[in-house]
Amino acid sequence: MTQEQLQDLAALRGKLDRIDDQILDLIEQRLAASADIAARKDAEGDRHLKIRPKRQVQILDRLKDRSDRAAPMLIEQVWREIMAHSLQAQAMTDLVLAPSDNPELLEARVRAHFGSAASVRWAASEAHAIRAALAGEAIAIVTESIPDTEGELRVFDVLQSEDGRNVAFAVGRVSAENIAIQAKSPAEAKAHQPKSDWTPGGWRSRPAEQLIDYPDPEALSRVERRLAGSEPLVEVADIIHLRAALARVANGEAIIMQGGDCAESFAEFDADKVRVTYNLLLRMGAIVRAAGSDVVHLARIAGQFAKPRSSPVETIGEVTLPSYRGDAVNGPAFTSLARVPDPKRLLDAHRQAQVTIELLQAYASASYADLPRVHREVGLKEPPRPISMFTSHEALLLNYEQALTRFDEASEQWWATSGHMLWIGDRTRQLDGAHVEFARGVGNPVGLKCGPSINADDFLRLMDRIDPDNLPGKLVLIGRFGADKVAEHLPELMRITCREGRKVIWSIDPMHGNTRTVEGLKTRMVGDIVKEVRTFFEIAEAEGVHGGGIHLEMTGSDVTECLGGSINLAREDLGRRYLTHCDPRLNETQALDVAHAVAAMVADQAKRANAA
Ligand code: PEP
Ligand code: CO
Repeated sequence: MTQEQLQDLAALRGKLDRIDDQILDLIEQRLAASADIAARKDAEGDRHLKIRPKRQVQILDRLKDRSDRAAPMLIEQVWREIMAHSLQAQAMTDLVLAPSDNPELLEARVRAHFGSAASVRWAASEAHAIRAALAGEAIAIVTESIPDTEGELRVFDVLQSEDGRNVAFAVGRVSAENIAIQAKSPAEAKAHQPKSDWTPGGWRSRPAEQLIDYPDPEALSRVERRLAGSEPLVEVADIIHLRAALARVANGEAIIMQGGDCAESFAEFDADKVRVTYNLLLRMGAIVRAAGSDVVHLARIAGQFAKPRSSPVETIGEVTLPSYRGDAVNGPAFTSLARVPDPKRLLDAHRQAQVTIELLQAYASASYADLPRVHREVGLKEPPRPISMFTSHEALLLNYEQALTRFDEASEQWWATSGHMLWIGDRTRQLDGAHVEFARGVGNPVGLKCGPSINADDFLRLMDRIDPDNLPGKLVLIGRFGADKVAEHLPELMRITCREGRKVIWSIDPMHGNTRTVEGLKTRMVGDIVKEVRTFFEIAEAEGVHGGGIHLEMTGSDVTECLGGSINLAREDLGRRYLTHCDPRLNETQALDVAHAVAAMVADQAKRANAA
């Protein structure tokens, strides 16, 4: 470069510097003018937000029209940012984001639209975001449903994705004449926005743990079609009834007694078995009720036919075969034929579930459970009233669950009609996995097993995803840590639910963290089980959380699968009646032992609460 050219360049750079100075001076003037406007508005005692979305759009349109070189995108970005700072100069305005399935996308769109000047925070639920917009200098960003505008609140702007989809709606105290041109009225926006981005089959595009590999996909499809054409196993009204009952649990007014087989079996099924399970749960409930707490009875039955396994294969001696995955999938016999997944088993499971539910209903209405006797046994004087027994199982086989999911016009909701409550297992609770994707879309109460490997971040996001509206009675967190690990993990998780204002239920599964092998057989010690239950209630009390229930693997018959308890089963008893196809269950006496331990905790806590 010649000397002359270098001088030219320096002059040009000097020009840029002067332009930058001018731009800065102008920005300073603009901010000062904004502050003047704010003072004027304050003097008028205006409760509206300082933001003027309609005027912002007019400014952007006018500048884009005038521009020659500056691309519309440049104008949009620069002026959105300047206007954001102007707004903050008028009044510090927060952006409060309701939970979203895609928080990164939402936050990016919010930043692009409202600039980087405002503070962005996440609300625990849409209701929290709306409340912030009502009460403070805040804009609520809501994603799915549009709330009915309350008083001064109004949807004033729509955030769209690059491909023109509505991503979110901005809600705030903005007057009707100030709303952005492209914003639709809430009713209109609602009509244009699908109620949810969820479909019963959406899980299929997600990675799935514990998936069954069916050798004949066509046969599976045929079975799915048959199930899809069948009557729902449970009524939506009853699911709603359970949700209401669980809302009382969430509110500290009752305790969940949940229990049943680890895995239901086709071979061991008969009416007597259902009756015995039903009676056992009622007796356990009566013991706890006698101690002063109301009880919600949830049987682990009528759908508990499939198991997640730690290993996909099982080896005996020289032979390795696919693991037994539950009667709805393959057979327990250790032969290669039995272990082939057969979709027709889903139909058998469905039929057995249907008969089971009919039996439960018959026992309930005929008072077959002999309630008066049960009540006398535990010293309850009040006359027996009908007690509802709800069904529950792990939502593991998503082909089955999807086929039994129905849309209900009255509630405008999807419901899993395979059981009243479903839970997600500790092995299938991946945030972006298929099981969570399925569970987030149904109206049923959903359980979430929480084992030692759950981390705080996933835990928070799982709650947001499964229960975005923070509905009491929707989410049941079921801890399953093990007697010696529960004190290490549970307090932190409980603190998170408290801090976030989560209306969840905390329950404890003292079975799955306490499995050990004795003489080649999987077993559990009643001592460990009772210890985890006790520690759970102690921690809950210390954290100011309601100890909301227990979740047991148990059977009404006199098996010898777990050791200890008041009948004092010893290791030499193990082989005597070891009947389970999967995990070791408490027998009747042992299950009642655990119920007594719960009752004692409940009574003690009530005493302490009264004394305080
Ligand atoms: C179960 O409840 O049978 C089970 C497999 O539990 P988890 O998912 O907690 O291991
Ligand atoms: Co189990």
